[in-house]
Amino acid sequence: MKLINHCLPLISILILNSCNIKKTEVSASLKNSYKDDFYMGTALSADQIEEKNAKEDSLICREFNAITAENIMKSMFVHPQKDKYDFTLSDKFVAFGEKNKMFIHGHTLIWHSQLAPWMEKIKDSTEMKAFMKDHITTIVSQYKGRINSWDVVNEALNEDGTLRKSVFLNTLGEDYLVDAFKLAAAADPKVDLYYNDYNLEDPAKREGVIRLVKKIKAAGGKIDGVGSQGHWQLDSPSLEEIEKSILAYSALGVKVAFTELDITVLPNPWDLKGADVNQNFEGNAKMNPYPEILPDSVQTKLAQRYADIFKLFLKHKDKISRVTFWGVHDGQSWLNDWPIKGRTNYPLLFDKELQPKKAYNSVMQLKEAKK
Ligand code: G3I
Repeated sequence: MKLINHCLPLISILILNSCNIKKTEVSASLKNSYKDDFYMGTALSADQIEEKNAKEDSLICREFNAITAENIMKSMFVHPQKDKYDFTLSDKFVAFGEKNKMFIHGHTLIWHSQLAPWMEKIKDSTEMKAFMKDHITTIVSQYKGRINSWDVVNEALNEDGTLRKSVFLNTLGEDYLVDAFKLAAAADPKVDLYYNDYNLEDPAKREGVIRLVKKIKAAGGKIDGVGSQGHWQLDSPSLEEIEKSILAYSALGVKVAFTELDITVLPNPWDLKGADVNQNFEGNAKMNPYPEILPDSVQTKLAQRYADIFKLFLKHKDKISRVTFWGVHDGQSWLNDWPIKGRTNYPLLFDKELQPKKAYNSVMQLKEAKK
């Protein structure tokens, strides 16, 4: 068996493992090294949920103990028509997590993006109310007691902290937020409920989240956590702002999760932050400087950035429930196609050949250094 190529010692134990491997040698891994700190998760593509690639499958099971579906639980896939739900892939996703004893996160119930075409046409409050009740109740009940946490509402805020003018706000007014959390709690009172968004380290947006959590709580809604997506750059956001956000959210009495972590290494002349998928630009060779390989100097910068971030996460491990990377390896990252299509990005800990990068070693070494 090929062992992973990193410099850490191997913990050689024989185990029975359900990821298509009967007996294997388990190396030191993200999930093992951080097991006393927080869950180490990854987002799975449809092919990964269907276990189409044995090598990816074994990497997922070896390194991660939490999973999120990158796309297949979004409204357009799970609720394609008014009276039709399609749980084929989400059932497989949940079964995959259960089989491998993983923490299972549901993404996402109420989001203005990736809606089914019929949802986009909802114009009045009666119809929207009925939609929200049916949608949230049906999906959360389907996995009651099996999914550990849900992104109840995703990306409801503008960059200045005000509420985004989405189809939900337009039809229902701001109470839709409280209602969504109440409906989810009614369908599964024990599941953890999160508000999830990007750029949550920016002071104005941070204030928006604080107002939102307080509002939901004051109205008698149950909210258990804030999910900070963590679509970050090599030099921003600053560690200081990330730390301020961890402290501010946890002071509200909710858990903090980093739910979609990745770090772009490509040019960003527009100074874009976050993950607004409507921002798209024309590409040229200058904008795609590393089509074949990432230079060592940039690998080192990425490794240092990840080390700094995880050092901070470890400092606040009592407040952090989960850190999830947005993808298993560089080859599948959405950042190869955003904000310019067809670039080659390197935002994760494993390269497209599934080999651990310098950044992986730097995250692992933080824990080794403590032993
Ligand atoms: O389903 C179609 C498929 O039928 C078609 O063959 C294929 C051809 O390109 O496209 C498929 O749809 C793609 C979909 O992912 C599923 O693979 C869309 O084009 C593509 O735009 C879509 O991108 C996803 C994006 O959300 C959509 O908003 C990314 O994979 C996914 O990583 C990204 O994830 C979001 C989080 O949910 C929320 N936070 C931001 C994050 C990054 O944008």
